[in-house]
Amino acid sequence: MKVLIVGGGGREHAIAWKTAQSQKVEKLYCAPGNAGIAGVAECVDIGVMEFDRLVAFAKENEIDLTIVAPDDPLAAGAVDAFEAAGLRAFGPRKNAAILEGSKAFSKDLMKKYGIPTASYETFDSAEAALAYLEQARMPIVLKADGLALGKGVLICHTLEEARAGVRTLMLDKQFGAAGNRIVVEEFMTGREVSVLSFVDGKNIRVMTSAQDHKRAKDGDQGLNTGGMGTFSPSPFYTKEIDDFCRKHIYQPTVDAMRAEGREFKGIIFFGLMLTEDGPRVLEYNARFGDPETQVVLPRMKNDLVEVFEACIDGTLDQVELEFADNAAVCVVLASDGYPEHYEKGYPITGLERFEEADGYYVFHAGSRFDSDGAIVTNGGRVLGVTATGSNLKEARARAYEATEWVKFKNKYMRRDIGKAIDEVS
Ligand code: AMP
Ligand code: GLY
Repeated sequence: MKVLIVGGGGREHAIAWKTAQSQKVEKLYCAPGNAGIAGVAECVDIGVMEFDRLVAFAKENEIDLTIVAPDDPLAAGAVDAFEAAGLRAFGPRKNAAILEGSKAFSKDLMKKYGIPTASYETFDSAEAALAYLEQARMPIVLKADGLALGKGVLICHTLEEARAGVRTLMLDKQFGAAGNRIVVEEFMTGREVSVLSFVDGKNIRVMTSAQDHKRAKDGDQGLNTGGMGTFSPSPFYTKEIDDFCRKHIYQPTVDAMRAEGREFKGIIFFGLMLTEDGPRVLEYNARFGDPETQVVLPRMKNDLVEVFEACIDGTLDQVELEFADNAAVCVVLASDGYPEHYEKGYPITGLERFEEADGYYVFHAGSRFDSDGAIVTNGGRVLGVTATGSNLKEARARAYEATEWVKFKNKYMRRDIGKAIDEVS
């Protein structure tokens, strides 16, 4: 088969690496890809939102399967564009990607179908939102309805902060049209867990659990980022919690989407909060998480392409997912200053160490080739260094060991990825 992956970050590198191992794949392309992805796929210089060019490329090159990985093209209907041209594509159609694309939609869906989540109100006008806040309990959470690169969520501790938040989202439009409507949500406390799953419209197959570290600095301080590291599995995600979620969250979400005439085929990422009153949905994503994917796929034993095809064909009930009985930790190497101002274009050395070493992976998030063919930094998040181990502690020690192999001028990382696991061992 000829396969095309749409995207160019660490998530896509992990997907490309795993896809390249499939017995079924004879040729792999990635658009636009990056310098790391170029090691496992032929990179094609087409942007993720250039649907006409992507479809034309897929036709010309007789691509059998296209995997659309990022949220923006999915929400804008990339899979619909491929299907309209008679091509096979993996990912939710536009009418199902709304599960991530609109927080108001997903909250209303959960309410209608009794899926546990924080209580909330939706507002289309700043006046109404401000009036509501006057009698609301603090802290409170404000969320831009639309996609905002994971940054449209404000946790407000005082009424003053909440008023300012409404102004930022709805009047100053810091996240553009994403803030035309906002969700105001009850603040929950507990531990967060990410659970990814494959969905074929009807059936769901849940992958192993993971936990992300979203803040830039140690001790969960600093600004929110796209993710500074992950570990898998989460020791806090017990069998009991898993049973509850399967019964009350996972399958009910798939059934709800079907009942709404929005059959979901692709990846559903459940962002969960394990509260004292049980698991609650924080958010849905309609795609693989990043950097969760960088710890989940190295532990997966199945042929990924077979699972993608089962999702498209509606035969996921015949697939059993298998994960290694081990653990993985990913530490993101970023450019110092991320997520605000940072320099890029610095040469990266030490990447070749990963070629020989067993159970060590380096997934590229932001890298490119300079004019001499050397690999240089090209983003805020540069690399995801993942290691597996027989348990989380071993995986973490190995991941941090491997972060030392790689050098670039303004390298920055958190030192406490996976520290929470010490609480349970
Ligand atoms: P989201 O993009 O909806 O996952 O929100 C980003 C982050 O904000 C989450 O990972 C949580 O850490 C936090 N968050 C979102 N909603 C809530 C909530 N209702 N209560 C507490 N924290 C929240
Ligand atoms: N790691 C969170 C996300 O992918 O949105």
